[in-house]
Amino acid sequence: MNVSQIRDKFIHYFVAKGHTHVASSPVIPQDDPTLMFANAGMNQFKDIFLGKEQRSYTRATTSQKCIRAGGKHNDLDDVGYTSRHLTFFEMLGNFSFGDYFKKEAIQFAWEVSTEVFLLDPKKIFVSVFETDDEAYDLWLNHVPANQIVRFGAKQNFWAMGDTGPCGPCTELLFDRGERFSSAKDPYEDESGERFLEFWNCVFMQFDKGPHGQVLLKKPSIDTGMGLERIAALKQGVDNVFEIDLFQNLIRDAEKILSRRYEDHKVAFHVIADHIRSLSFAIADGAILSNVDRGYVLRKILRRAVQFGRRLGQEDPFLHKMVLPLIHQMGSTYPELKKEQSHIEEMILNEEEGFLRTLKRSGGLLQKAFEEAKPKNLLEGEVAFKLKDTYGIPFDELALMAKDMSIKIDTEGYLKEEERAKEISRKGFEVKEQLSMEPLLEFVQQHGPSRFVGFDTLHTNATVIGILHNGQFVDTLLKGQSGSLILDETPFYAEKGGQIGDVGSISAFRVDATKTPVKGLILHEGTAEDTLVLSQVVSAKVDYALRKEIEKHHTATHILHWALQQVAGPQVRQQGSYVAANRLRFDYNAQKPLSDEELKLIERICNEKIRENLAVTTYELG
Ligand code: SER
Repeated sequence: MNVSQIRDKFIHYFVAKGHTHVASSPVIPQDDPTLMFANAGMNQFKDIFLGKEQRSYTRATTSQKCIRAGGKHNDLDDVGYTSRHLTFFEMLGNFSFGDYFKKEAIQFAWEVSTEVFLLDPKKIFVSVFETDDEAYDLWLNHVPANQIVRFGAKQNFWAMGDTGPCGPCTELLFDRGERFSSAKDPYEDESGERFLEFWNCVFMQFDKGPHGQVLLKKPSIDTGMGLERIAALKQGVDNVFEIDLFQNLIRDAEKILSRRYEDHKVAFHVIADHIRSLSFAIADGAILSNVDRGYVLRKILRRAVQFGRRLGQEDPFLHKMVLPLIHQMGSTYPELKKEQSHIEEMILNEEEGFLRTLKRSGGLLQKAFEEAKPKNLLEGEVAFKLKDTYGIPFDELALMAKDMSIKIDTEGYLKEEERAKEISRKGFEVKEQLSMEPLLEFVQQHGPSRFVGFDTLHTNATVIGILHNGQFVDTLLKGQSGSLILDETPFYAEKGGQIGDVGSISAFRVDATKTPVKGLILHEGTAEDTLVLSQVVSAKVDYALRKEIEKHHTATHILHWALQQVAGPQVRQQGSYVAANRLRFDYNAQKPLSDEELKLIERICNEKIRENLAVTTYELG
């Protein structure tokens, strides 16, 4: 029975039992900030379990695309080393929303395992939550007591994340025999390789919040069977990568890599797994970046590229695996076909970028690992330097080290990190002691500075604070530099990359305007004559400069818009610098702009500017 047939049989069984077949949700969660990737079939039904949403059905069945990398459920480090872990997999599930509960769920799971997939009942073990006597007794209808084990919360209490629906669960495990280990039962099987968990049935009973869990109004059922695992059992193979879908993919990878699978199994497993996570994530709208989900995906890609390099691939190759993947999975998941060129392009660009980084670091990374080989240890100091100077994150290094069977001196690394922190903390503390505390107190006493600079660039005001050498003083003498605080001010303070106003406050030349603590506007500069506390002064912004800054500020908005027109709507601002004579705009992108694209951006920016539209200002706090 091939993977497609298994998927169909499962769905068919549950549809016949009154379940509605629901399509997989995207692997990138659309509206759940607690989740990095869809990690289980139940994700898309979370609000139904919680009683916040009603649907026309109370029973559902799905084949859900899942990624378990990063976040609470993370299998990335295991892929390639065990016979069962994948970062991307399909989860077959049946769900009851306040409809049936334990008895039927157990009955269904047993029937599907033994009557649909014809697994040998004598080899099926089940685990229940340690105090769940009800589940234990229900299982006795199907298996003898010596095939039932009880485990604590770590194994048999399932939660989607740190918050959300959760409950005790019962798992079905298949005894794959002594060739995996001599463990006699799941208690002894520490690696989990002999007694393969292939199905987890969760009795959803609670909603876990930050302060504990409350009972759900309607107890529900959420089950998940790993499609690749049941396929391995059905097809009588020892490793998920030996099922038909992966073997077909690996045959194509052999051609692309010009290497034989037999000689490099781990590398082929990693590449075959990682191309699935990457392609599905990108098809569902993910980008690769330096933060959050984008960073996890980048890590996955780099790991695949590293394994490719160990097989002699100096050039990008991973993007070539997209088409073979589409041949295997494109008819079930048409989004892969639809997004093919986008996926290929994004992977290729990222591969090129990573290879460039490796080149730029002058092979230092390679060298460090080569030097580590004889001792089998990457020194903490070296690891820290690679992170601190070359920006290769520790967990990425750890993963590479593991893949090369080299240990990292974690303790030494942490020591180096602490030392570096200490140094920067000291540097920072001196500054803080000088200014932050008294400034905070000042704002507390006087309230926030009043900014009037949207209405006027010139006003009379009163000096309510003078700082010299970081201390509050009553007088600033001619020639001394310091900072002034006014009761109200037309000076715009540096904010979000936009430089502050300059100008004059009577006999004080303002070189910069800043907000070192929230609510405080500080005018930095030099006294050209003596200034005293409570003096009434004339505060005047340099109009010409302010105008220039404003123009560059507006230009950043135009540039952002133009970039989105040309490079795509996914372009997001990452930062900017706005001054009187220039601007810089940071954004994240998968590839550099071509000369044509740059010219086009320039042209449409200029066109927009020539339209000379009125600018509207919103104060967003
Ligand atoms: N949510 C459970 C799991 O992921 C069962 O589907 O294991």
